[in-house]
Amino acid sequence: MVDQQAPPAGPDLSKGVPLSEFAGETLLGHVGDDEVVLVRSGSEIFAVGAHCSHYHGPLAEGLVTGEGIRCPWHHACFDLRTGEATRAPALSPVAVWKVELEGERVFVQEKREQPSPQVTRATEAPGQIVIVGGGAAGFAAAEMLRRQEYRGSIVMFSNEAAAPVDRPNLSKDYLAGSAPEDWLPLRPDDFYTEAKIDLRLNTEVTSIDTARHVVTAGGETIAYDRLLLATGAEPVRLPIPGMDQPHVHVLRSLADSRAIIALADGARRAVVIGASFIGLEAAASLRARNIEVHVVGLEQRPMERVLGPEMGDFVRALHEEHGVIFHLGDTVTAIEGKRALLKSGGAIEADIVVVGVGVRPRLGLAEKAGLAIDRGVTVNAYLETSVPGIYAAGDIARWPDPHSLETIRVEHWVVAERQGQTAARNMLGQREPFHAVPFFWSQHYDVPINYVGYAEKWDEITVDGDIAGKDCLLQYKSRGRVLAVASIYRDIASLKAELAMERARAP
Ligand SMILES: Cc1cc2nc3c(=O)[nH]c(=O)nc-3n(C[C@H](O)[C@H](O)[C@H](O)COP(=O)(O)OP(=O)(O)OC[C@H]3O[C@@H](n4cnc5c(N)ncnc54)[C@H](O)[C@@H]3O)c2cc1C
Ligand code: FES
Repeated sequence: MVDQQAPPAGPDLSKGVPLSEFAGETLLGHVGDDEVVLVRSGSEIFAVGAHCSHYHGPLAEGLVTGEGIRCPWHHACFDLRTGEATRAPALSPVAVWKVELEGERVFVQEKREQPSPQVTRATEAPGQIVIVGGGAAGFAAAEMLRRQEYRGSIVMFSNEAAAPVDRPNLSKDYLAGSAPEDWLPLRPDDFYTEAKIDLRLNTEVTSIDTARHVVTAGGETIAYDRLLLATGAEPVRLPIPGMDQPHVHVLRSLADSRAIIALADGARRAVVIGASFIGLEAAASLRARNIEVHVVGLEQRPMERVLGPEMGDFVRALHEEHGVIFHLGDTVTAIEGKRALLKSGGAIEADIVVVGVGVRPRLGLAEKAGLAIDRGVTVNAYLETSVPGIYAAGDIARWPDPHSLETIRVEHWVVAERQGQTAARNMLGQREPFHAVPFFWSQHYDVPINYVGYAEKWDEITVDGDIAGKDCLLQYKSRGRVLAVASIYRDIASLKAELAMERARAP
């Protein structure tokens, strides 16, 4: 977050800066107390708010692409002319400022009234859109429908108690105690009323009648002209005795995270079952609360399946430096009271058990409705399912990825949001193929790991830089072709790799 007490950075742009001092693509400065970044794109100069509207990433360190600037942290993009957040995970615009050139000096003085977002004219006007799921994809779709000036009805069902929240935070700063709960909602409660989004919480959609175009939820039937399925994934529960005890939790919802935090108060020791992303993020957050943490995982190296052995070793060492005790190549066979019994013998007595052994896409509704399923809900390039008028996005969707040339399904926050946005535009009659390069990030202590692309298998990993020194870029290659790139503190290189993958896309 920005330190509100620090004086604004860089030159005072209202006094003008000589063009000779603005040699690169960006220059960070300020106007009054506002930090502003000057951005050169071709022959034009723009001025926009210096901090990304997602988590305040420094846009001056981002990548300029045409009339957009991409955030170095999680690859959001902002339109330089309007400030609009054109790519998730940012959803709100940044401010835009008037730029004046006088001779060889560039001046920024006045903030412009926030321009309207770009609206692609709808070619279809469905009267009623129903969204099943109040997560990343469902929320981003509803928000985009209104951004596109869709004026019909939107009903969004969620079987969670909370309005859409920033789910990635549930295992990170919020669980660690460094982010207050009021940072979590993606929008304040009154947003839904003002935007006329009929958000129905605690409401499970139980069936879809594709012939009559209705869904059933809470005993009511609701008609739709277009339907978006964004039911996400649910945590796998281990089939072992003792899973139903009050100190044993999976971690998916705000309610789960709150329950773990409540247990953490006064807890001495925690067992985390699962050494992948969520398990290890939870381990880091519990260490921040000074709780002894044991991680039990079947794998020999954490995260090796996704990130490879080098990064796996690094992640293990990083957690060990912070005091995490690993039990790898092992599992928990039962939880007897507070004792988690290990397969290898022995037991760990713990006040909290967090189970993070992966998720399964929630396909039941789609399956029952007769939609084509292939290890996910099958969608075409426009995110439409096998039944016209029904779209799917996020963790449940398996789409034809033009980069890997495979049909893929991923469990990434940014992908879910971007798919929700694309599905929204397509429900309004656009024919916009989904071709974003997959991106995810994970955070462990002060170390962010960014990943672009998709590599289920590879035959070579090249390492540039120093993994242990937290300054590296790894390329996952198959027959010489770069499928994916993971990086630590190589943000510009990660953004450039993403751009290169976009440009190399098959037609
Ligand atoms: C703790 C945690 C941390 C994460 N951290 C990261 C990260 O750092 N980076 C990253 O890229 N990804 C991360 N992820 C993954 C990311 O959150 C998911 O990929 C993303 O939320 C998927 O979005 P979605 O909309 O498909 O599903 P979800 O966000 O899960 O939303 C699905 C919604 O549908 C509701 N629902 C399901 N079935 C029904 C029904 N029948 N009726 C009504 N409602 C229903 C669910 O309750 C839920 O509200 C994390 C996930 C978790 C749990
Ligand atoms: S801080 Fe900019 S995308 Fe997250």
